[in-house]
Amino acid sequence: MLKVAIIGYGGIAGAHAPSWQLLEERGKAKLVAVCDIDPDNFSATVETNINSGRELPADVRTYTDYKEMLANEELDLVDICLPTPLHKDVTIDVLNSGINVQCEKPMARNYAQTQEMIAAAKASGKILMIGLGLRFAVEYEYVKKLIESGEYGRPVAASFQRLSGPPLWSRWHSWYMNHEESGGCLLDMHIHDVDMVRHLFGEPKAVSCVTQDLYAGDDVVHSRFIYDDLAVTAVGDWSLEGTGFYCGYRIAFEKATVICEMSKVTVYPRGGEAFEPELNGDNFFTRELTVISDAVAGNGEVAVTPPQSAAKSIRLCELLKESANANGAIVSCDELKD
Ligand SMILES: NC(=O)c1ccc[n+]([C@@H]2O[C@H](COP(=O)([O-])OP(=O)(O)OC[C@H]3O[C@@H](n4cnc5c(N)ncnc54)[C@H](O)[C@@H]3O)[C@@H](O)[C@H]2O)c1
Repeated sequence: MLKVAIIGYGGIAGAHAPSWQLLEERGKAKLVAVCDIDPDNFSATVETNINSGRELPADVRTYTDYKEMLANEELDLVDICLPTPLHKDVTIDVLNSGINVQCEKPMARNYAQTQEMIAAAKASGKILMIGLGLRFAVEYEYVKKLIESGEYGRPVAASFQRLSGPPLWSRWHSWYMNHEESGGCLLDMHIHDVDMVRHLFGEPKAVSCVTQDLYAGDDVVHSRFIYDDLAVTAVGDWSLEGTGFYCGYRIAFEKATVICEMSKVTVYPRGGEAFEPELNGDNFFTRELTVISDAVAGNGEVAVTPPQSAAKSIRLCELLKESANANGAIVSCDELKD
């Protein structure tokens, strides 16, 4: 069984911990240690926009210094759940210690940092996977398969939404509300859909984006992705105080429209009966942590989210920001093409 540790036991770690528990029950991996600079976090309740509760199993060893943890524990994999501005340095430290890394999205605060992380992974010979969880969500995997199979013809239009209240749960000062650290909703939350647009449709030819500043900056984001023969838009908005979290998509194919509202997917074939496909499977955290665990154990690769691709999603967010700074001007994405 793989030995795993989490660094950063705040909001999102509370969603990873139950998945590690499941993987232990399945004999794949065991969470043996957790590190957070604030020891109160090991017992604190943190409610995020997607999860709450985070009881730590009694046999998990706790640390407040990750370097001490890396020195004391024999680890196969570290799951980095730190605030975004710390992803780059800690990922590189862990890789340089000869340990594989799973790092939460967004991969880093900027594209230059992603390149340093990729270079460190290459030099260490260890695996680096980025937690772009949506790529593992059954609702999104379903529509990707429809695009690939051509069952309903080609996609002609798509829109994506990701809406929530502002992320105010962090106990590590108010880093989400500081644009320098979080990149606002554009980099932090909208990136899920930016990445999914690339994952489903490939690199856009160009983008246009407008944003509004209410908290950190770039808190309401409307993006347009320009393709030949395909209309794609996405909205990210974390200004909806009191409404709870919502995400979904609407993808129109030549012969059907597929609508996802949270975890409910409905297919509306033209001239046919609407139906809800049966989509079973673990939640996306468990699915992504299974993929990295299997890869570390030598069974498979991290083909769904290679770090080079995760890095391009950061770069695409930068191009969207460039457009937003120019009042929605069209910005070429030629540089993203291989
Ligand atoms: N995949 C998703 O759907 C999803 C959802 C929410 C957040 N995230 C991402 O996860 C990351 C973490 O977000 P969060 O909401 O858990 O943040 P958070 O602030 O709630 O938690 C981060 C934790 O890291 C700890 N920390 C800070 N510096 C440390 C250090 N040097 N050593 C050890 N611990 C340290 C803090 O004390 C805090 O408890 C962010 O990059 C965020 O964008 C992903």
